[in-house]
Amino acid sequence: MTTKESIITDLRETVGLQLSDPALVEAIAGGLGEVEAVLRNVARSDVAFVDEAASHLVQAGGKRFRPLFTLLAAQFAEGSTEEVITAAAAVELVHLATLYHDDVMDEATMRRGADSVNARWDNTIAILTGDFLFAHASRLVSDLGTDAARIIAETFGELVTGQMRETVGPAGGEDPVQHYLTVIDQKTGSLIATSGRYGGMFSGAEQHQIDALYRYGKIIGAAFQISDDVIDIASPADESGKTPGTDLREGVKTLPMLYALTESDGNGRLAELLSGPLTEAAQVDEALALLRASSGLPRARATLTEYSERATAELAVLPECPARDALRSVAEYLVARTH
Ligand code: IPE
Ligand code: IPE
Ligand code: MG
Ligand code: MG
Repeated sequence: MTTKESIITDLRETVGLQLSDPALVEAIAGGLGEVEAVLRNVARSDVAFVDEAASHLVQAGGKRFRPLFTLLAAQFAEGSTEEVITAAAAVELVHLATLYHDDVMDEATMRRGADSVNARWDNTIAILTGDFLFAHASRLVSDLGTDAARIIAETFGELVTGQMRETVGPAGGEDPVQHYLTVIDQKTGSLIATSGRYGGMFSGAEQHQIDALYRYGKIIGAAFQISDDVIDIASPADESGKTPGTDLREGVKTLPMLYALTESDGNGRLAELLSGPLTEAAQVDEALALLRASSGLPRARATLTEYSERATAELAVLPECPARDALRSVAEYLVARTH
């Protein structure tokens, strides 16, 4: 049985959410319970197999960070209106769909502590189920009006552009670190920014507050991705529900790797290992050991700290209240979790 207390305890552990105000605990836990009910009922099909594949990752869990942000963002005005709940469920569904597709592209075998859909079934099932979830997300957003529909379409276009940019890699002469920062702004920041924007929009917040929630979301989303990329290298045990070292296996160069490669001695052996996808477990272990000993991790943590501070600065235009403190706690936690 999921109690309101257990929802909040889980969020403290997974995203560092600090909620002490009883009314806010009630609002957020209650709102997330409603979002959960929508998620479990909205993407249904008469075809039993479609149902099973579509509910696989919903049931596997996940942090529900995007809907949480929508609900917190709504606290600066009228709180969890019916439209806020719909918007929160929609952003999680879009996220979920991108995970179905991402695990195909990244050839990942684990997601949310369960088999990824491509591993459990196959790539075709994962791609089609991802499309099915997008379809239902769009249907939900259509209840929120044409502005919301345009915003999610633009957001999705931006997210996919980020994924494409990551796949293609930096253009000749382009700074790889700048390329990485653009990728994460687009692939991860875009949807988290929209999650906050929706929360503001559908609770009747003032435009300048909606804009600040959007900007906070964009930066915190990128910070979220940097901390994830640091943990993918730094965390010896698998606590993320994903297989560590997936980026190395795929040949995707994340921020700690890019920084390690700019070390003055050129880090020859590491450069050799990172020049393409790594297929052997021993190569992944060797690259991880070199990366953990390099300056890449502390430098990536320093960039993460900058992002976290910039995100927190965006909160200044919002009124001081427990919801603002909660958003601040998340920004601080993203840095703390990488140590
Ligand atoms: C995974 O997102 C993709 C990244 C942006 C790193 P989350 O870390 O929010 O994944 P879930 O929803 O908790 O599974
Ligand atoms: C996840 O990206 C998909 C999006 C952010 C759109 P990643 O490939 O970097 O994340 P994980 O590590 O698989 O969760
Ligand atoms: Mg991935
Ligand atoms: Mg990916």
